[in-house]
Amino acid sequence: MKKLIFLSGTKGGTGKTTLALNSAVLLAFLWRDVAHYPVAFLDLTPNVGTAALILLGDPLATWGRPSLSDFAGGNIADPLRAFYIRRWNTEKGAFQLVFTYMAQDVPLTRRHLEYVIQMVESRLKPKVLFFDAPPLSAGSPLAGLVDYVVPVVTPDVSAVEATKSYVDLVGGRRLRPVLNMYIPEYSISAVHGMPWELVIEKTLGERPHVIPFDKLLQAARQALEVEVLKLRPGESPGVKALAEYARYLAATVG
Ligand SMILES: Nc1ncnc2c1ncn2[C@@H]1O[C@H](COP(=O)(O)OP(=O)(O)OP(=O)(O)O)[C@@H](O)[C@H]1O
Ligand SMILES: [Mg+2]
Repeated sequence: MKKLIFLSGTKGGTGKTTLALNSAVLLAFLWRDVAHYPVAFLDLTPNVGTAALILLGDPLATWGRPSLSDFAGGNIADPLRAFYIRRWNTEKGAFQLVFTYMAQDVPLTRRHLEYVIQMVESRLKPKVLFFDAPPLSAGSPLAGLVDYVVPVVTPDVSAVEATKSYVDLVGGRRLRPVLNMYIPEYSISAVHGMPWELVIEKTLGERPHVIPFDKLLQAARQALEVEVLKLRPGESPGVKALAEYARYLAATVG
């Protein structure tokens, strides 16, 4: 089981959740015949993250159900009781994603996290485990626990800097960075006096995968939909670029 996180350091709103959820769903589809639970997804955002809300399909669905907060708070001993299955049916067959979330703001210690990872690996046996976390600070319990880290930046000077220092801190093999919310008409960073793609190549050591700014992605989010399941690549350049990144992950991580 490979563990993967999309990371922007202390910077919020860069598209980590969008990337994590869409990649997870596409890999679950691509690997639907390879494993029973090809992909597991841990939404570590306190008070129910957006990814969990989208997967649950209904904000009220959290009521009376165990979540990882109950494991962290000592109310349940087996963290797998806090995992749920989301299934989709397509013309090419059914596929599913197994996920969990934090219903409250109860700190998950490193020992808890290690135990959860161990249980997921030994009992669910996914090919990949995605973490979706809020902006990280230095004391993150995730440090040293992931195999792969994807730096996600927006065309914003502080986003690039904040990301650079934290990807090293979290560790793991660095995958191709993502430049999200890119607007081709504003391709040059005025501060650096060079194209954003080059700024990122210089800062993070590799040319980024570019995801254009696409208001359809925001429309899908407002409707609590998984973008790649709602929009066609032909109509949404954002979805096209998200799907390309997921295929790169399938080839690199799988
Ligand atoms: N390429 C894009 N074009 C337009 N809007 C986008 C794009 N990518 C993400 N968004 C929108 O930006 C908002 C923030 O995205 P998202 O929640 O994925 O970011 P995040 O990094 O997970 O945020 P947080 O730090 O709060 O966890 C959402 O409304 C999402 O729909
Ligand atoms: Mg998020």
